[in-house]
Amino acid sequence: IPLAGVIGHPIAHSKSPRLHKHWLRQYGLPGDYVPLDVAEKNLATVVRALPKAGFVGANVTIPHKVNVLQLADQISDRAILIGAANTLIFLPDGRIHADNTDGYGFLANLRQGAPDWQPQAGPAAILGAGGAARAVVSSLLDAQVPEILISNRTRPKAEALRSEFGARLRVVDWVHAGNMLEEAATVVNTTSLGMQGAAELRVPLDGLQSGAVVTDLVYAPVDTRFLQVARQMGCVTVDGLGMLLHQAVPAFERWFGTRPEVTEATRQAVL
Ligand code: ATR
Repeated sequence: IPLAGVIGHPIAHSKSPRLHKHWLRQYGLPGDYVPLDVAEKNLATVVRALPKAGFVGANVTIPHKVNVLQLADQISDRAILIGAANTLIFLPDGRIHADNTDGYGFLANLRQGAPDWQPQAGPAAILGAGGAARAVVSSLLDAQVPEILISNRTRPKAEALRSEFGARLRVVDWVHAGNMLEEAATVVNTTSLGMQGAAELRVPLDGLQSGAVVTDLVYAPVDTRFLQVARQMGCVTVDGLGMLLHQAVPAFERWFGTRPEVTEATRQAVL
């Protein structure tokens, strides 16, 4: 039977095994999906061994998403652009294909959660400039947002994104992050602030425009303070759990041959 898994370190908290096993059951497909706890020094050995052990592919998560590119024989354009991979496909001839479906998952989740969302309606504001922000920036540019305002505690990381992704990005100082919300039709938190066990996001949110579409990549808790406040201000909110589910769709389809649907039942399966 075709096998897939998720490679990370640590890996115990990954929701991917439950998600893929749920779809395998739902569609009555043969296959299995396992968590693979792999230390940095063993990454190459493990990845090269997996196809020989019956694996058709693997997801890749922290801390391996950037390093794994060095092991790939083929890299998709979007993985090159983002500079990281979250999905490996082991080709029948033994070559390793690396892809990144995070940006796809981000947009698919936004479109499903806010069907009236119009990326062209106005600038997008992004909080954070880490690994997750790269996928968000590239997918929002793809979706034709007119401008991206980006603010990060460590400003040079936001400036690095600007020099890489170009003039449609405008860097805003972290102390003024609240101001950029006044212009924004789309607002995204890509920082880890608001996550269980982390500090809360302290950016003042009173500039949020009612009608703006607001999403948070944090999904533990699913309903973050940031989303709660945005809802109170009349914004349309989309939680981050859906991004995790949607990023898995193209991978599952490639590995197991059926394109799965993301529904309320899918959400319940991983909660
Ligand atoms: P990910 O892959 O999830 O984006 P990351 O690359 O470690 O993870 O990025 C974490 C993001 O959360 C960064 O934007 C980080 O800001 P810095 O670049 O300044 O580190 C942001 N972040 C984490 N803790 C923060 C805090 N206490 N205050 C402000 N921003 C924070």
